[in-house]
Amino acid sequence: MNKKTIEDIGLKGKKVLVRVDFNVPLSSKDPNDEITVTDDTRIRAALPTLNYLLDEGAALILCSHLGRPSSPDDKQFTMDPVAMALSDALERPVIKVDEVVGDAVSDAVADLEPGDVLLLENTRFHPGEKKNDADLSRQLAELADVYVNDAFGSAHRAHASTEGVAQVMRSQGKPSVAGYLMGKEIEALGTAVANPPHPYIAIMGGAKISDKIKLIDNLLQTADKILIGGGMANTFLRASGYETGKSLVEEEALPEAKRLLEKASERLILPADVIVAPEFDPDAPDEVAMVNAIPADQMALDIGHQTVARFKEEIRDAKLVVWNGPMGVFEMPRFAKGTFQLAEALAELVDLGAEVIIGGGDSAAAVQQAGLSEKMSHVSTGGGASLEMLEGKLLPGIAALDDR
Ligand code: 3PG
Repeated sequence: MNKKTIEDIGLKGKKVLVRVDFNVPLSSKDPNDEITVTDDTRIRAALPTLNYLLDEGAALILCSHLGRPSSPDDKQFTMDPVAMALSDALERPVIKVDEVVGDAVSDAVADLEPGDVLLLENTRFHPGEKKNDADLSRQLAELADVYVNDAFGSAHRAHASTEGVAQVMRSQGKPSVAGYLMGKEIEALGTAVANPPHPYIAIMGGAKISDKIKLIDNLLQTADKILIGGGMANTFLRASGYETGKSLVEEEALPEAKRLLEKASERLILPADVIVAPEFDPDAPDEVAMVNAIPADQMALDIGHQTVARFKEEIRDAKLVVWNGPMGVFEMPRFAKGTFQLAEALAELVDLGAEVIIGGGDSAAAVQQAGLSEKMSHVSTGGGASLEMLEGKLLPGIAALDDR
């Protein structure tokens, strides 16, 4: 990696502003409820960085966005529950302030001693965050001697706490470096983009092809084959001339699907069979249909057994597999088999020495639900960020950090 990291700088006695991605799921949307964090994966993923900084004698000022609040009045997005979950995970007290910047924050920062942990309020409560406002960036930079970005999940956002603050730190001669999680994500996904071992097989799924056209175009330059499942496979099947019944098809994406098939039909592997049901319902009766015989009153909700077998065959000799998007509606047990069987096959592949990278978002959730996260080589904590990185984009939150 060509970016400086926390190991490249002195930290003893320093006040360190750490941008983390603590955009975690919450138990309720009602601010009157006692809201708790329901999955602390992203908090735990930041612990190696936080513990290293603390061990080195730094005082920490942590900041993150949480959800998509429209104003500070959206109290259900306060960082209070995150402060509690963080304190549990770190096994030490966390001081929480109710502002992002301002006098209360500056006073709390002035009182910090090495080993202290301060958490700022949701950065998106400040109107300058998403605008990458120069004044907010300057106020954040003024709080600290060092800026660490460990928020890979937010690295595709050019916001004040991700991109702007790093630029101001540089202009003030202060370091802006990557944390361990950021470094791990850049290494894993960066290798897949720039220097993949072959055979390299990509597996694409999820509902929409329109979100992933750029990704597929980019993967066609580096991957040997792309296996297509999930809702997006229906659009490809229709573009290939099949009738798809009541399946979700993105009509407006059909020309793009046709273009991709014309470009690389022998390297885009579509399902041979699918699991169909009459309704999008967890209890709907399911049956197998070959893709050339999907009944007019049925919709495809998972890949079929023959497709799972074909996909397993395709990945058998792979040195690298990147998976982005589930193969079916894995939230409904009846339509989860394709996704989970593939996850098991990928876990076995890791045992045989292959590198298996799981994109964030739904694919990470599916692998976690299958209980196989620990078995994979890398499970990204970034949904949109991992997608954009695999598209070959330079992410602004990474670009802004100091080069080696
Ligand atoms: C994510 O969950 O993908 C990141 O935290 C970014 O969140 P956002 O899409 O609201 O910017």
